[in-house]
Amino acid sequence: DAFCAVVPAAGIGKRMQSDIPKQYLSLAGKTILEHCLLNLIAHPRIQHIILALHPQDPWFNKLGIASVPWLTVINGGKERADSVLNGLQQARMSEWVLVHDAARPCLPHTDIDKLLALAGGNEGGILATPVRDTMKRADEQGLVLRTEEREHLWHALTPQFFPRAQLQHALSNALAQNISITDEASAIEWAGGKVRLVQGDPCNIKITHPEDLALAEFYLQRMKKTRGN
Ligand code: CTP
Ligand code: MG
Repeated sequence: DAFCAVVPAAGIGKRMQSDIPKQYLSLAGKTILEHCLLNLIAHPRIQHIILALHPQDPWFNKLGIASVPWLTVINGGKERADSVLNGLQQARMSEWVLVHDAARPCLPHTDIDKLLALAGGNEGGILATPVRDTMKRADEQGLVLRTEEREHLWHALTPQFFPRAQLQHALSNALAQNISITDEASAIEWAGGKVRLVQGDPCNIKITHPEDLALAEFYLQRMKKTRGN
């Protein structure tokens, strides 16, 4: 069985402070967006990608992958959740869908395999990594209120993998009620659904700040060596 992936890439990358959105910056010979898409489609069980772009995106059509048959381009929305919801509306052929950030080009295929193993079961899930540092909760003045129990804290990564209809309902209801939704899982949680944590590789970073570029480049070169692409 094959799956469809939705890739939200309609953001402007404010925190990166670059002239162009971060997904169009080049690393190891290709744009971050191309690394992300080519890596996903190279997985044997991912058959099609729905890519959400900013409606006035002048960059995408200049890329070599602009006209490949396995890609459907749609308009993103105001928030990430709007972009994902627009994408899901085009993903009707897939009973389960993966949602993956355009800004995460270093996703290992072994992590995709672990997530796809949830298909057919009773709950969707997300890649996540356990937090490493001791976690403090603080007040507005920067004074520690308490130390949080680290064993119960995880970083939520992508892909996030859910039955398409369940995710579509959860996201559209959450958006209609103005609930702040930062990832797919938070919409599912809000709707009362279950979310399985699947431990992923910490190399699957989201490029967010300028200092993330060098680290992502290192991981990309390392992936290139091990996979030969
Ligand atoms: N995204 C999207 N539509 C939006 C906002 C974000 O498709 N309206 C996408 C981004 O392009 C990115 C992913 O969601 O691939 C994760 O978001 P983030 O890392 O926050 O990217 P940006 O929103 O672009 O960055 P920033 O928050 O720094 O502006
Ligand atoms: Mg953002």
